[in-house]
Amino acid sequence: MTNNKKLLQWVDEMAKLCKPDKVHWCDGSEEENQMLIKKAIETGSFTPVPKRPNSYWVPSDPKDVARVEDRTYICSEKKEDAGPTNNWMDPKEMKKIMTKLYDGCMVGRTMYVIPYSMGPLGSKIAHIGIELTDSIYVVVNMRIMTRMGQKVLDILGEDGFFVPCMHSVGSPLLEGQKDVPWPCNDTKYITHFPEERMIWSFGSGYGGNALLGKKCFSLRIASVMAHDEGWMAEHMLILGVTPPGGEKKYIAAAFPSACGKTNLAMMTPSLPGWKVETVGDDIAWMKFGSDGRLYAINPEYGFFGVAPGTSMETNANAMLSMTENSIFTNVAFTDDGDVWWEGMTKEPPAHLTDWNGNDWTPDSGRKSSHPNARFTAPAGQCPVIDPAWEDPNGVPISAFLFGGRRSTVIPLVNEAYDWNHGVYLGSAAASETTAAAAGAVGKLRHDPFAMLPFCGYNMGDYFAHWIQIGRMTFPEKLPKIFYVNWFRKDENGKFMWPGYGDNIRVIKWILERIDETGEYVDTPIGRLPTKTAIDTSGLNMSPDTCLKLCYVDKQAWFEEVNEMREYYKIFGDKLPKQLNEELDKIEERLKK
Ligand code: GTP
Ligand code: SPV
Ligand code: MN
Repeated sequence: MTNNKKLLQWVDEMAKLCKPDKVHWCDGSEEENQMLIKKAIETGSFTPVPKRPNSYWVPSDPKDVARVEDRTYICSEKKEDAGPTNNWMDPKEMKKIMTKLYDGCMVGRTMYVIPYSMGPLGSKIAHIGIELTDSIYVVVNMRIMTRMGQKVLDILGEDGFFVPCMHSVGSPLLEGQKDVPWPCNDTKYITHFPEERMIWSFGSGYGGNALLGKKCFSLRIASVMAHDEGWMAEHMLILGVTPPGGEKKYIAAAFPSACGKTNLAMMTPSLPGWKVETVGDDIAWMKFGSDGRLYAINPEYGFFGVAPGTSMETNANAMLSMTENSIFTNVAFTDDGDVWWEGMTKEPPAHLTDWNGNDWTPDSGRKSSHPNARFTAPAGQCPVIDPAWEDPNGVPISAFLFGGRRSTVIPLVNEAYDWNHGVYLGSAAASETTAAAAGAVGKLRHDPFAMLPFCGYNMGDYFAHWIQIGRMTFPEKLPKIFYVNWFRKDENGKFMWPGYGDNIRVIKWILERIDETGEYVDTPIGRLPTKTAIDTSGLNMSPDTCLKLCYVDKQAWFEEVNEMREYYKIFGDKLPKQLNEELDKIEERLKK
């Protein structure tokens, strides 16, 4: 129940347009959740997973399995404000197209009104969104991923601010027509109106296309709000790390989609006595505290994590987070009533139902799960969730990490000389593409700050915002910036770094650098660990591999610098001059 006039009016207007049979206001209760799940089981959309209480197996339409970046638009008033890295369309044009698509799109269905808070209820850093959707899958996932229901309307009050988030799978049900398990539409649009702080999505029921609190609000719209209001909305995990007998520090890290955020956020350290605790695994909102430091909250309430490759060996804490109350999208189903995916166990089961509902055996020559199969699990179920994860004030950040998948050139870890050099490192982030977005996999592309698909405005202005953040406090209050790469390969194409729990060895050096104790060498590209500075005890790693992991190939770096200069040109006069200056400095140091 609400008496927020703007909200009531908007819901009414959208209902008139979409013509659902009913409008259901979600209260967020357990009864409501069970009622929806029962309905989804009846239509064949959800299948209970007997081995995991209150958990469900949901295979999607095989054509609706990932974010659709080519169908994602930033509809700012001016094209320039969307910038060279975003698709743009005039907002009036886009609304015309979308209004036609929305007209009658919910016939035969229910429109659900989902009031949700990104961030702890009532936190000064949190914000409210209202999603309208005709998908039960979306409602049930949003209840895990956000704080959702009547309690949000109570906080919103009569005239509180909210981000309107309109969503439809675009699949009306005509009289007598039987529903399909995963309704969607071949025509897809994921559109954002940054000035209005509004989201309109159509045609997809999948993840970032449909759970609008996540990428659409918490990154694309929030990045615009953050730019206007002097804070930060980033594609970053947040973790707390405590050395044996030492002081806990918080680190935030930006890696592109499916490049290791969830894994790092909840890793089991391989070094004895070290502890890692999770605040968030995908998104960070940060504001300056009164002490001049940056404080981060996780706006989300759950994990929407990559399933394949997740196992008790690689990420036990993720596995233990999804033992109950979880949703499994596009994974395989076992004969004894559990879920399975590639990499979960060394030996695959002898027989499975694959993510398309077909029989699968290990010799069937194809994967049982989609590479972008996901689990949705409540963050509170993570065994190493940080005690401060719901602190409305957030946690103080001591370091930012950037990274991505780079099989060559980029060393294991590199410390920025100062803030602006760190901003350069973020802007220079590039990564081989993954299955998280529709399109080719393994293609190297620029992905500045891991925000390429998620920055809701001109990326040049976003770079400038980062430079500006560095001027908003004393330099010693700013997080130190590092670039890491777990993915460098040897001449046989094998990862040289063991990764996962062993990444604590790199974090250890990073903490030592924050304390100014870690041993380093200054190189043209930044500050690197000395030969013996990374603790490789018990690793059985050859000194040769250690050297190769941190090798700076001058010729390759000249090429990297030239390539960056070319890339920067697309930003025209929006590119902050400090970034070209950083390139000049690297080039000078390379020439020495
Ligand atoms: P999004 O949820 O899409 O934003 O992704 P994410 O960054 O949270 O990715 P996630 O942690 O789920 O990692 C996805 C993939 O990276 C999985 O296939 C992992 O097995 C692999 N991965 C994660 N950490 C490491 C690592 O340290 N080394 C190697 N080699 N692979 C890793
Ligand atoms: C990503 O692609 O970065 C994700 C998954 O975190 S999704 O919610 O589908 O965007
Ligand atoms: Mn992500």
